[in-house]
Amino acid sequence: ELGPYRHFMQKEIHEQPRAIADTIEAVMDNGGFSAELFGDNAQSVLADIEGVQILACGTSYYAGLTARYWIEAITGLPCAVDIASEYRYRRVVANPKHLVVTISQSGETLDTMEALKYAKSLGHDRTLSICNVPESAIPRASRLVYYTRAGAEIGVASTKAFTTQLVALFTLTCTIAKLRGQLDAAQEADHLDSLRQLPGSVQHALNLEPQITGWSDRFAPKQHALFLGRGMHYPIALEGALKLKEISYIHAEAYPAGELKHGPLALVDSEMPVVVIAPNDSLLEKVKSNIQEVRARGGEMFVFTDADSQFGESEGVHVIRTPRHVGVLSPIVHAIPVQLLAYHAALARGTDVDKPRNLAKSVTVE
Ligand code: M6R
Repeated sequence: ELGPYRHFMQKEIHEQPRAIADTIEAVMDNGGFSAELFGDNAQSVLADIEGVQILACGTSYYAGLTARYWIEAITGLPCAVDIASEYRYRRVVANPKHLVVTISQSGETLDTMEALKYAKSLGHDRTLSICNVPESAIPRASRLVYYTRAGAEIGVASTKAFTTQLVALFTLTCTIAKLRGQLDAAQEADHLDSLRQLPGSVQHALNLEPQITGWSDRFAPKQHALFLGRGMHYPIALEGALKLKEISYIHAEAYPAGELKHGPLALVDSEMPVVVIAPNDSLLEKVKSNIQEVRARGGEMFVFTDADSQFGESEGVHVIRTPRHVGVLSPIVHAIPVQLLAYHAALARGTDVDKPRNLAKSVTVE
């Protein structure tokens, strides 16, 4: 069942090009973005929404945080993202014209289900579920659904479910933008093309595994690690830190790089490895200057960037490059190296990668 892989997590990481290709198949067959991809009558639910409210937990929440950048930039609608277990106990000001999007790999997470019920009790009847398990509880309780086609995910640490959730959320973003007249034919063709090329770009990122394995020995003995990113790669830094915590038990925290000087810089010394997600986007120069601050304090840096970013190696600065920057879908490509880093660090520490202590695959209790 594991084939050439040692763990389900490793297998699932490597299944991502296929999982993404399967998840976009309906869009490609359809020849573009349209409401029907989300179910019958989706047009009437999506057409005149005034905003988006995302509810999710854990890795699914980080998929939501990433999507907020796409939704606000591409549709022009406001988007809020809440941790489901907090939203359900908060006095929320609800606008029923906002679309409530729940994201859940399992479709059975109790906190997400209860947040959805609470949203409905506040008058939200435009509800959409992004889920990997057909006919599970959350999609059944939602009016619209988009199923990710990751296939069964066995490893407790979510990997292929995360990247396929991102693909589904990007598809939703483009669909809403098109319905609102915010996406012309040329932009739609561009986005479709980026999606079509995504499995190949993800495969290129997977090919970095031997280089990442080379880093894992340096990570394995550490007690702590810091992850930095900016913009839509900040949620990828959060996801990288969560993966590392879950399976290697190394304490990791993520910050938007601009926040360093507001506190966490005090933690940096030669014992603190700092992982930086620094793709070749408009924030690259900002990230470069933020990390000077780390270098000046003796922190060892592990940078994931793109080949076209001119990011050089220097003493204490190690760099791994994807072949090129892929634009708006870059967070999906940059999710891969942080998954691999967590996996190989855990392997070096000898932890139970697929079944980390204290955790369950599906969290059906409060
Ligand atoms: O099934 P769900 O997507 O609702 O699960 C949410 C979280 O429990 C889940 O993503 C968790 O954070 C993972 N173990 C992360 O790897």
